[in-house]
Amino acid sequence: MTYTTREAASKAVSACAVQALAADIAQQGRASLFVSGGSTPRQTFEILSGEPLDWSKVTAGLVDERWVPPDHADSNERLVRSHFLKSFAGAAGLLPMWTPGVDAGLAAAERDLAYRPHCVSPSFVLLGMGTDGHTASWFPRMPGLDKALTCDNGQCVMMAQAAGAPVPHRLTLTGAAVVRARRAVLLIFGREKLDVLETAMASDAHAFPVRFAIDGLGDRLLIMWAD
Ligand code: 6PG
Repeated sequence: MTYTTREAASKAVSACAVQALAADIAQQGRASLFVSGGSTPRQTFEILSGEPLDWSKVTAGLVDERWVPPDHADSNERLVRSHFLKSFAGAAGLLPMWTPGVDAGLAAAERDLAYRPHCVSPSFVLLGMGTDGHTASWFPRMPGLDKALTCDNGQCVMMAQAAGAPVPHRLTLTGAAVVRARRAVLLIFGREKLDVLETAMASDAHAFPVRFAIDGLGDRLLIMWAD
């Protein structure tokens, strides 16, 4: 879906998330959403934070996290706490990924246990995409990519190594967790990413890991783009 402005696209993502969360709150009494970091979702977070939903029934988690403390400029937790979990959305519970005093490898197992109950069937997942075709922290050719890109993986959270990224050590949801989402949005901005998406659709998930999410989610995924 193409939008004339990034604001219109961000509003559409927020509306989609609210619809998915409200449906699960109505049906199950609770809902869960997992969001990506980076620069793209910031306006969506600001809009979503002002939505009058029963956020006390929502658990918010991260799609991935760079392994830095939550006061670090690159922290996705910091981004989510600053732009999303405030105003009405401040009543939601946050499941962070970063854990003080341990490295990503040790934290992965504990965070996997914490995330699993909420990853059985996520109400909503917001994905972004890098210009290398990664989504979440599934980077092309990264060690353990096979483990991330399988639906048979019983894990929900695993460690990732984003070689060359500003913060290489990360935790990420696995593909198995992401593709169980009842509704997901891939939000991308700019012509360069549109070209990357087109290339990804003609390639495979190991070269363009975003492809795994697109194929695995099928019609539960909406791709939203603005220039
Ligand atoms: C991260 C994100 C990542 C992001 C893409 C796009 O922690 O980096 O979760 O998957 O969605 O890298 O990032 P931008 O929105 O900054 O282009």
